[in-house]
Amino acid sequence: MTTTLFHGGRIIDQRGERSGDVLVDDDTGTIREVGPGLTGDRTFDVTGCVVAPGFVDLHVHLRQPGNEAAETVLTGSRAAARGGFTAVVAMPNTDPCMDSAAVIREVLGLASNALCLVKPSAAISVGRQGVALTPMGELVTLGVRMFTDDGSGVQDAHLMRRALEYAGSLHVDDDVPIVLSQHCEVSALTEGGVMHEGAWSTKLGLGGQPAEAEELMVMRDIALSRLTGVRVHFQHLSTAGSVAMVRAAKAGGLPVTAEATPHHFSLTDACCAGYDANFKVHPPLRTAADVAAVKVGLADGTIDAIATDHAPHTPDTKERPFDQAPPGMLGLETAFAVAFAELDLPLADIIALLSWRPAAIAGVGDRHGRPIEPGVPANFVVIDPEHEWTVSGAAMASRSRNTAFEGRQLKGRVRHTVYEGELVVIDGEVTR
Ligand code: DOR
Repeated sequence: MTTTLFHGGRIIDQRGERSGDVLVDDDTGTIREVGPGLTGDRTFDVTGCVVAPGFVDLHVHLRQPGNEAAETVLTGSRAAARGGFTAVVAMPNTDPCMDSAAVIREVLGLASNALCLVKPSAAISVGRQGVALTPMGELVTLGVRMFTDDGSGVQDAHLMRRALEYAGSLHVDDDVPIVLSQHCEVSALTEGGVMHEGAWSTKLGLGGQPAEAEELMVMRDIALSRLTGVRVHFQHLSTAGSVAMVRAAKAGGLPVTAEATPHHFSLTDACCAGYDANFKVHPPLRTAADVAAVKVGLADGTIDAIATDHAPHTPDTKERPFDQAPPGMLGLETAFAVAFAELDLPLADIIALLSWRPAAIAGVGDRHGRPIEPGVPANFVVIDPEHEWTVSGAAMASRSRNTAFEGRQLKGRVRHTVYEGELVVIDGEVTR
């Protein structure tokens, strides 16, 4: 039996903050011992670093099947590992769409070799066309716990109501909740829009997407959650109005949860001034007031989790004119450092937003986002909060390069990532 020791770190998890060595049993992939003065067969000195439960991303696009030029399950999992994530939920807007057992099985097969847990979500509607529901009952038997038409929202309120009732009627042995996750966007209002509708879209002569396009669907789905009693998770909240509505819904006892992306709490629509499509994203970058509201939402618990919406696109597509380029930006490899730079929160709160809180929503809390203690699966991250680095798309593990943070100086970097006992990242580099 061999062991790996992480010596001299500061542990931060849901139990609090303490110093301690962490000893991993390499054979079982579990944490064997935590405490002072431990010895192991192989030792990493992590003095000055933080050891925390691995991050969990509720929202990534891995592009496989269908757009392997932009990303694959394997390359996306490398980016995830490098960002400190030990589990990610893959979005279904692949080609073909993840709306059938066959495609879910294909993704699960690809995931078996990944550097983190890749949990496929599945579409709510067949082909994400918003007309007919997918066979959710069958997909749940394959382990799917999150359904979403992400990339677009479910436009038809009746179909969304039926989806919620269907999800609410399903019973799973593991008691992991089934989550309907909504990309809130009323497409009738965003048609032709390529950025946030406001002073900047007017100045730049670009079509706008009003905040209300998001807020109307947040409002509708809060109403549908009330009507059906079924959980709704709100993806990438980007407006002050959305945050306020989710806050009120939670105060009213509704079973709603929400996520926000690093770009929506750090960048504004002013970033689009140079017509650089790396800043084009759906929902779009909003105003400084919206950014401030998202930050407050993260601080006061209205927003449960940070999710990246990692959206790789090939350079040739992102080099197109702003209005013709696809929306989306990379997120996995910069998430922690952007959150650390932008959020005026204790490190423990940032880790909570990246780890155990999303783990509970994704239903992976049995193995991920667990406290650093003996007997639990070794899914953890070692962060160096002092490490300064410069973001470079070209240096990323992702197959794509479309970061919105190119050239940004950041502090705080993932040093090591341990996934099921395997060191998948050592000194900032993936090991396979
Ligand atoms: O900007 C985005 N890109 N928003 C989405 O909802 C989809 C995503 C993508 O798939 O590229």
